[in-house]
Amino acid sequence: MQTDIAAGPGQRIGVPKEIFAGEKRVATVPAMVEKLIKLGFRVSVECGAGAQASFGDDAYRSVGAEVVESAAELWAQSDIVFKVRAPSVDEVALMRAGSTLISFIWPAQNPEVMQQLAARKVTVLAIDALPRMLSRAQKMDALTSMAGVTGYRAVIEAANAFGRFFNGQITAAGKVPPAKVFIAGAGVAGLAAIGTAAGLGAIVRANDTRAEVADQVKSLGGEFVKVEYEEEGGGGGGYAKVMSEGFQQAQREMYAKQAQEVDVIITTALIPGKPAPKLITAEMVKSMKPGSVIVDMAAEQGGNCELTEPGQAVVKHGVTIVGYTDLASRLATQSSTLYATNLFRLAEELCKTKDGTINVNMEDDAIRGLTVVKEGAITWPAPAPKLPPVPTAATAKPVAAAAAKKGHGAPSEPMSGNKLAVMFGVAAVLFWLIGTNAPKEFMSHFTVFVLACFVGYMVVWNVKPALHTPLMSVTNAISSIIAIGALVQISPVADALSRPNSLITWVAAAAVVLTAINMFGGFAVTQRMLAMFRK
Ligand code: NAI
Repeated sequence: MQTDIAAGPGQRIGVPKEIFAGEKRVATVPAMVEKLIKLGFRVSVECGAGAQASFGDDAYRSVGAEVVESAAELWAQSDIVFKVRAPSVDEVALMRAGSTLISFIWPAQNPEVMQQLAARKVTVLAIDALPRMLSRAQKMDALTSMAGVTGYRAVIEAANAFGRFFNGQITAAGKVPPAKVFIAGAGVAGLAAIGTAAGLGAIVRANDTRAEVADQVKSLGGEFVKVEYEEEGGGGGGYAKVMSEGFQQAQREMYAKQAQEVDVIITTALIPGKPAPKLITAEMVKSMKPGSVIVDMAAEQGGNCELTEPGQAVVKHGVTIVGYTDLASRLATQSSTLYATNLFRLAEELCKTKDGTINVNMEDDAIRGLTVVKEGAITWPAPAPKLPPVPTAATAKPVAAAAAKKGHGAPSEPMSGNKLAVMFGVAAVLFWLIGTNAPKEFMSHFTVFVLACFVGYMVVWNVKPALHTPLMSVTNAISSIIAIGALVQISPVADALSRPNSLITWVAAAAVVLTAINMFGGFAVTQRMLAMFRK
């Protein structure tokens, strides 16, 4: 059912079906259509555009979008086109002069498309050209959202191809050790892969040429493996540089050692504008255990592994090498939702007046960076944006580390001294009030309750999620403190002997036996679980 709201006064945003072979993503989703309409836009979606990402035509209609039968009709009526992949020659030919395209473009790799777009006299905002270093731009950063999805998916592909569990387990049939995963390159995708693999219970190690990511790797539950060679790998702007031959030799030696030890390698190493560095040689693949898995995320840029075949999963020397180049598309519902949110945030920036009309303001650093063609003139590359002063080491906080703090159980920031003093003051007054007014019996129970809350909080919140199962078993063992109750019932011995057959004595004795099993068994199981985490 279509609602009247689609016929508002604003410009029309058109969303065509992606035509690139195997592309399942769509540039907007129903939840964002609603928000775009609230901004004053009208929205048209090509019939079946979201079908492969699980968004049917009816879902778009129900929130006020118009579903258009043909691509030609859609391109012709759109003032603004939202797309995922750079347009083909045929698609550019369908564009209306004066309209605006917002999409991935990769201007450096696609000079011909750039020329064609300029010739159509259109304006093009390349989402991949966003100045990512501007903190204001983060909400529009589709590269980061897509890399996050692909890092996650790479681990899922690895788990799918791997014949064992990722986490360690103790089963009735025996002990299963956790899988060992090595991640080469800890950029956005690499960090997402570290978090996902650690979440699945694997032992995760990672390496990057930029030493500054070591803390981020740790905060996500991984171990940073250093190359024994002093050289800084940062090339500016959070990207890497090509390393010296000496470093590369030392790195190869370390990677060769890891290849023999680990079960899964996920490679994400990339230096912008350069072919992917070859980090995993054929010899290293040969040295891996049979059944091991390599996921080479850099397959499209030539691959980090010598034996990768882009777009394919192949088995060589008993190792499965996954070189898929469509990892984001393999999680189409999630990646489309994130991408659609990034484009909606961009639409908000372009339409501050909320009247459904965009203003491509070239004075705005973020918009200027994105704009690669303006009304037929190529405006790429943009001059470097003016950046605020670089924060000092003490104030800088990596985004990933902050995210990890929020979601992965790492210790939170210490409270300031003043805040702590106020908190203690308030608590003291509260206790004094309760103490002076409450009945005596209440106070002893209340004290035990407060101490239990405090100890419980300290124990659970300060323990890594991966250790929660052993924690449960040890607390279960500790709870056997109830044995004391049973002991009180059967003692003193003399008293018990004077009435050896009393029911309470036998029940208490049984309780002691059962809790002893619970206690000693619990400690033994905890011990075995903890042993699995020791590397
Ligand atoms: P990024 O630039 O954030 O991360 C790359 C990381 O590799 C950086 O941290 C860099 O320091 C590191 N690196 C560079 N050279 C290295 C070396 N010799 N040794 C160790 N580390 C090195 O890139 P992002 O966004 O994390 O993407 C990672 C890879 O995934 C890229 O190759 C990208 O093209 C690819 N990708 C693949 C997709 C697929 O479907 N297969 C989809 C999206 C991205």
